[in-house]
Amino acid sequence: MAYTIAFANQKGGTAKTTTVANLAGVLNELGTRVLLVDIDPQASLTIGFGVNVPELGQTMYDVIAGDAALADVLRQVRENVDLAPTNINLSVAELQLVGEMRREDRLKQALAPLQGRYDFILIDCPPSLGLLTLNALSAADHVLIPMSCDYYALVGVRLLLDTLRRVQERLNPHLRILGVLPTRYDARTLHSKEVLEEVRGRLDGQVNVFDTVIRETVRFKEAPIQGQTITEYMSGHPAAQDFREFTEEFLHEFEQKSIA
Ligand SMILES: Nc1ncnc2c1ncn2[C@@H]1O[C@H](COP(=O)(O)OP(=O)(O)OP(=O)(O)O)[C@@H](O)[C@H]1O
Ligand SMILES: [Mg+2]
Repeated sequence: MAYTIAFANQKGGTAKTTTVANLAGVLNELGTRVLLVDIDPQASLTIGFGVNVPELGQTMYDVIAGDAALADVLRQVRENVDLAPTNINLSVAELQLVGEMRREDRLKQALAPLQGRYDFILIDCPPSLGLLTLNALSAADHVLIPMSCDYYALVGVRLLLDTLRRVQERLNPHLRILGVLPTRYDARTLHSKEVLEEVRGRLDGQVNVFDTVIRETVRFKEAPIQGQTITEYMSGHPAAQDFREFTEEFLHEFEQKSIA
């Protein structure tokens, strides 16, 4: 059985996609079998792995609409990584779902036959708490919250934690909050430092905050243009090290192998 993790934050631009892509990059190096599921109609994860979106045949749109099996839309993007790609049509699927029965369960049902093939299934959510994100939170056994180190993101995390508790009560009692990953940390600014202190102080006792902090660097913007992850693009860069450390912490949560 795979561990299924949703990467969620209703705020835009908190590095959800960047976290999924770069975690997958390190997990691939470690030989861990990974399935990436892009359920954001913006398709950033799909694009970031160099997939030509206009040329795609069936996508997550067809899967959520109930017209395709997830196995039929997969693309192998690395030796150990498969991607379930998406495109803008997925936003239409979300609207179509509204009137349907068990509309929060589509993704869960679609993933069920693939559980045995992977160690980790990572779901990249859109920046909303709509039906697509609810599908991810219903399908997942864990949720990770990437949070950029800025004040509005901090405020947004509190709202998200309230929502996640409601999801645990009503939709998925098995959902475990893995924690908050501070991202886009700029050590040159007092603001970043203050937000990080706040997040550690205010969330202490409520939710795990990862020790690793992902630094702000333009390299994270450059890498996906080449269809690469940070560890592939600049293996020796401190930001690549951030992701290796984060992956080690992440794996520790599952008591799996760690990086030597
Ligand atoms: N550590 C970082 N340093 C610099 N830029 C970053 C960093 N993390 C992410 N970015 C950039 O910030 C932007 C938003 O990141 P990303 O797309 O990962 O966020 P997101 O939460 O998935 O956004 P959305 O909510 O739109 O899905 C992107 O241009 C990305 O390259
Ligand atoms: Mg994204």
